[in-house]
Amino acid sequence: MPATHPASRPGLVARTLAAATGLTLLLPVTACRQQAWTAAERATLRGLSLASLPPLPPDPSNSVADRPEAAALGHRLFFDPRLSADGKISCAHCHQPALRFTDGLPLGEGIGRLQRHTPSVVGTAFSPWQFWDGRTDSQWSQALQPMEHPLEMGLARTEIVRRVGRVYGADLRRIFGSFPELDEGARFPAIAAPRTDDPVAMTAWEGMQPEDRVTIDRAFAQVGKVIAAYERKLQPGPSAFDRYVDALERGEDKAAAQSLDQQAQAGLALFIGKAQCINCHNGPRLTNDEFHNIGLPLLAGLSSDVRSLRPAVDLGREPGVLALLADPFNCLGTHSDADKTRDCAELRYVKSVGDTLPGAFKVPSLRGVSRTAPYMHDGRFQNLAQVVAHYNAGPVPLLGHSDLKPLLLTLREQESLVAFLEALDGPLTAEERWLRSPTAP
Ligand code: HEC
Ligand code: HEC
Repeated sequence: MPATHPASRPGLVARTLAAATGLTLLLPVTACRQQAWTAAERATLRGLSLASLPPLPPDPSNSVADRPEAAALGHRLFFDPRLSADGKISCAHCHQPALRFTDGLPLGEGIGRLQRHTPSVVGTAFSPWQFWDGRTDSQWSQALQPMEHPLEMGLARTEIVRRVGRVYGADLRRIFGSFPELDEGARFPAIAAPRTDDPVAMTAWEGMQPEDRVTIDRAFAQVGKVIAAYERKLQPGPSAFDRYVDALERGEDKAAAQSLDQQAQAGLALFIGKAQCINCHNGPRLTNDEFHNIGLPLLAGLSSDVRSLRPAVDLGREPGVLALLADPFNCLGTHSDADKTRDCAELRYVKSVGDTLPGAFKVPSLRGVSRTAPYMHDGRFQNLAQVVAHYNAGPVPLLGHSDLKPLLLTLREQESLVAFLEALDGPLTAEERWLRSPTAP
């Protein structure tokens, strides 16, 4: 354990001084001690630091993912409340730049209240799966769901294509070569969508010609694709932790000590050691991009929400993976631009059965985590101390399976872990103009 390694030079000085003067109580030996890391630990730290983050890989399912004009249009769509039934809810309503693209609420609130907490969008372009249950496999297919969800933005598919076409049709035609202009009438009903909660929209959708449904779906997917091009800009930048690792690598111990204080260093040692956080929170985004059950007890009371569209018990990845496989907008679907013989490996080999799926949720990135309270898929913890206390107790799930064991950390050790999590905060790398509404003065 790094925490028990011999004190480095400043610690020795303090100890010698204390021995000489008898001021042991006033001069704790650990006052300015540095962690002494083994070579293996240093390699681990390197693996967690942003220096190990590869360039954002291309998204073969989205042909406009890296086109600047698509990002510029996606930026406008992301902040446009006209994409909602009541004209008030944009993506940015719940994913606010000032809150690192979250909303500060336990559960997301749009037209109604959702049953899940709003995660940050930052860095998620790297993630093979979107949503807490990973029910989509790209950012563009993810972006389609909130627009149609009755509690989020609440529009029908034909409404979305018609509204977006009216305002942004010319831009979309420049980007994609085509985007439909919908006449209002029998061919393209005002409100039509394959939405099982709305029989009127559903009947209208089923009454449409199959080729007209394809036209709508293609245009709908294009809206998602430009939004995704914008989201790819939102990436995490260096934190105190990254500066610490960089300084260590350069052999500049003093600069390292200035980047990360001793308590945060002790927390880091626990994170990669005794507390085993690194089993799931690893790599430069501090996530293994997998799904795990961490024994969160089922929240009471949610079932009484009459607007709820989910069962009272949130089974997470188990239904999530089935929804992913059934999603017509997944990587293998008609509107994906991927080469289906070569791409989409993640989807083709996805784990879709097993006792680790019920109650499992996506391991979130921990970059900037101190700014995105509350925590977990249901927003149950108000602060990081509560999160760490949960892991410390070694929670046993009521449902499914968890490998977590009680950590038996002292209160001081738990505080150190929190100090380390706080040291993962840093600004985004995106230019300032992407971090505010395009219409803001
Ligand atoms: C009413 C609030 C609300 C609105 C509006 C909203 N979101 Fe979300 N967003 C959420 C919630 C809640 C989740 C998690 C839902 C889940 O896992 O089932 C989420 C998940 C996401 C994720 C997945 C992140 C991850 O780590 O898996 C992305 C990306 C995202 N939203 C982007 C968007 C975009 C783009 C829009 C607009 C088209 C949008 N959101 C509109 C609340 C909202
Ligand atoms: C077995 C895998 C696993 C281990 C080990 C693990 N985590 Fe997690 N962590 C997760 C998952 C999964 C979630 C999301 C769970 C949910 O919402 O249901 C999560 C959520 C979190 C969150 C909340 C993030 C957010 O945005 O809501 C924090 C903070 C966190 N973990 C820190 C830690 C720390 C600190 C440790 C070590 C003490 C640790 N984790 C160990 C899998 C793990």
